[in-house]
Amino acid sequence: MANLEAIEKEMRSLGWWYQHFELPSGLRTGNGQEPGYDAKTRWNFIAPHVPQDLAGKTVLDLGGNAGFFSIQMKLRGAGRCVLVDPFVEFNRQARFAAGQFGVELDIINEDAHTYCLTTDERFDYVVFLGLLYHLKYPGLVLDRLAEMTKHRIYIQSNIIGSEADTYENKANYERSLDDPLLEDPAYPKLMFVENLYNGDATNWWLPNYAALAALVRSAGLKVLDRPHPQVIVAEPEFYFGRVVYPKLVFPQYGKKGGAIYPGVQQYEPELWQELIHRSEDKK
Ligand SMILES: C[S@@+](CC[C@H](N)C(=O)[O-])C[C@H]1O[C@@H](n2cnc3c(N)ncnc32)[C@H](O)[C@@H]1O
Repeated sequence: MANLEAIEKEMRSLGWWYQHFELPSGLRTGNGQEPGYDAKTRWNFIAPHVPQDLAGKTVLDLGGNAGFFSIQMKLRGAGRCVLVDPFVEFNRQARFAAGQFGVELDIINEDAHTYCLTTDERFDYVVFLGLLYHLKYPGLVLDRLAEMTKHRIYIQSNIIGSEADTYENKANYERSLDDPLLEDPAYPKLMFVENLYNGDATNWWLPNYAALAALVRSAGLKVLDRPHPQVIVAEPEFYFGRVVYPKLVFPQYGKKGGAIYPGVQQYEPELWQELIHRSEDKK
């Protein structure tokens, strides 16, 4: 009991949890209230597409937050598992959660773009959930991930519009004649967010249903399944290869008054407190 209290105290000291999940002690991260989400609901769409036995396989969990998905892969026997997230608060949570499950994660505090552009490593399985729309250069990262994936990649993105709108690609689009197709709600589109989306300055591009799959295919990946409108399971189909530039220069980017990336990110203490209070109020 005393041990459980100590675990709960430590979990609470780690602040606001986005990923809510159960620890081996039976405790749940966060407080079970919004904001935040039950990470298992997302895992349920992906789990049937993950081999039961991942013995010795390598995993990349980009934007891995508090480590829920990395931990699931480790529990299926994965070997090296790299979790990349630029927020120090989430890195701490992931370290704590992995410790609770007795698994080891390689936690890297890094921005997705710079990580993908500076590593040579390829992974058997890549987990890319809830991150695409947070990236200023989502196509660049997806292209790299396609190249970095040996077997399978799990992708989730928030989307805009309706998934009921089906769209058939044309082999060629005639200038002027076909331009009105842009007005077709089903046509692949990315909505650019110059300011805030959902009150969040870290959102940049929201794809619609067709655009998410189109981006995935154009990266050289084959869509194997779409167990949810937001979720795609894919594997490498066409290998474009890569070029390594020893002196790559990457621009910093951000929004006025918001964080500047790449770089180590830390929540403003007031915002972090506000997130905690907001969820406490709903208890
Ligand atoms: C919506 S959460 C998704 C977390 C987790 N992948 C999931 O599906 O539960 C987005 C995560 O991406 C991280 N993130 C935001 N911008 C990032 C960036 N530029 N590079 C890498 N991770 C980023 C956030 O810190 C956060 O942990």
